[in-house]
Amino acid sequence: MVSARITVNGKETPIAPDAPHTTVLDFLRERGLTGTKEGCAEGECGACSVLVARPGVNKPTDWVAVNACLVPAAALDGQEVVTAEGLATPGADGTPATLHPVQEEMAVRGGSQCGYCTPGFICSMASEYYRPDRCSHDASEAGEADAEHGPNGFDLHSLSGNLCRCTGYRPIRDAAYAVGEPAEDDPLAQRREQAAPEPVATSYTQGDSTFLRPATLEEAVQILRDRPEAVLVAGSTDYGVEVNIRSRRDTCVVAIDRLPELRELRVESEYLEIGAAVTLTEIERRLDGTVPLLAELFPQFASRLIRNSATLGGNLGTGSPIGDSPPVLLALDASLVLASADGERVVPLADYFTGYRQSVRRPDELIRAVRIPTPLSQVTAFHKIAKRRFDDISSVAVAFAVDIEGGIVRKARIGLGGIAATPIRSLATEAALEGKPWTQETVDAAARVLRGEGTPMSDHRASSLYRSAMLGTSLKKLYAQTTEAVSS
Ligand SMILES: Cc1cc2nc3c(=O)[nH]c(=O)nc-3n(C[C@H](O)[C@H](O)[C@H](O)COP(=O)(O)OP(=O)(O)OC[C@H]3O[C@@H](n4cnc5c(N)ncnc54)[C@H](O)[C@@H]3O)c2cc1C
Ligand code: FES
Ligand code: FES
Repeated sequence: MVSARITVNGKETPIAPDAPHTTVLDFLRERGLTGTKEGCAEGECGACSVLVARPGVNKPTDWVAVNACLVPAAALDGQEVVTAEGLATPGADGTPATLHPVQEEMAVRGGSQCGYCTPGFICSMASEYYRPDRCSHDASEAGEADAEHGPNGFDLHSLSGNLCRCTGYRPIRDAAYAVGEPAEDDPLAQRREQAAPEPVATSYTQGDSTFLRPATLEEAVQILRDRPEAVLVAGSTDYGVEVNIRSRRDTCVVAIDRLPELRELRVESEYLEIGAAVTLTEIERRLDGTVPLLAELFPQFASRLIRNSATLGGNLGTGSPIGDSPPVLLALDASLVLASADGERVVPLADYFTGYRQSVRRPDELIRAVRIPTPLSQVTAFHKIAKRRFDDISSVAVAFAVDIEGGIVRKARIGLGGIAATPIRSLATEAALEGKPWTQETVDAAARVLRGEGTPMSDHRASSLYRSAMLGTSLKKLYAQTTEAVSS
């Protein structure tokens, strides 16, 4: 059997003797690639960002930036990684290396002072530099450049997971907006034309702990049946924090993020099915705004770095009452497809959560997919109330999906997060809206009902009074936003 290994900057590197929980960050640094830094070890700062070759959305391969501090090295068995060191071209016969265009721009525009955050910025920037649909024209002339997009089509949000404490962001933005198109002979640009590495079935054991990557869903659910101690991991953006900050150690970790059965995105006549292991970035780019409520959710969900790995299965799998996808999926009337060795069952999300981080999912089941019924409601909105506009956890999250015909609310679905032990549907408010005219009077009355929903608590993020107040305000905001758009 071929031992687990990662191709790092073009060189195959065995993972042994590292432990199965060793992160990509530690794996790289222990092998001398110390450009990859540890700032926070919990996905917040991006100092550890590296590039991974992943199946592309518009080309066979995308160079995707991920947080190396969160991903176990064993999860990248058989995969290709490029670090900041691997982006420069080494000089021949002792001559200096040629900087990558992104590195060059950061250097000449003063984008780096202490330099601690710089390799992470470079990798996130390089990922955006190689995004195939970034720019094939002058975005200023096309009217597409704005406060968050450069004239070269560079999306500043690609850096939303990277923090710099000393340079200031202006020079970094200048560098990002100055990069051009990759040259034709650029090896990483050329690499996009070939398929990404296939997932490799992995069984990696050190001591009493094992990292398994089954090749099929059938194998995965069999492991869940045979080994009750098995723990699932997908993008590892939650799990990696548990490992680093809470020293979580499991004897059997089962990676499901590359299972083909969990990676499909299918449009059926009555529903849209999104595989539980499709990353949020992939969903965002593949749906391209066709589900407006999801399109509104994604930019408010963590950072691009996190979304590049995070999945819907993982967001629902945590059972967290403050996860951002459950309110949205509740408003969309979504169901979950749960798979086990006995077969599949479909559970409405509204019936899924049973208590704090509890659900009807049995230990031998995994979430295979999320189903969203179609057609979609016309009026939708997602309001995330948090302390920061981006990359923050919700204090309260409210998602609306409302059908209005002839000025009357025919159907209302409202999903709430952060105001009870589980994400909940706002049934009383839905009833206060349905069958009523979509007027200020109806909305004011329903907003009073919405304020009373759930059992919000006070914590360091918000008081219970504030949370309740935000609920009512949120419905009024929806009304203000939509009255012009809806014809009676
Ligand atoms: C810096 C940072 C910012 C964040 N910001 C947000 C935010 O704004 N909003 C938000 O909602 N979350 C946020 N998160 C949390 C996290 O990114 C999400 O919950 C994400 O969707 C988890 O997906 P994952 O694939 O990485 O899950 P993992 O970490 O791989 O798994 C999480 C849990 O789900 C289980 N699981 C995974 N897949 C499945 C499946 N298919 N079936 C059953 N169980 C499964 C795992 O066993 C594990 O218990 C943030 C995290 C970090 C580190
Ligand atoms: S070290 Fe901060 S995000 Fe990884
Ligand atoms: S250059 Fe010092 S933290 Fe960014």
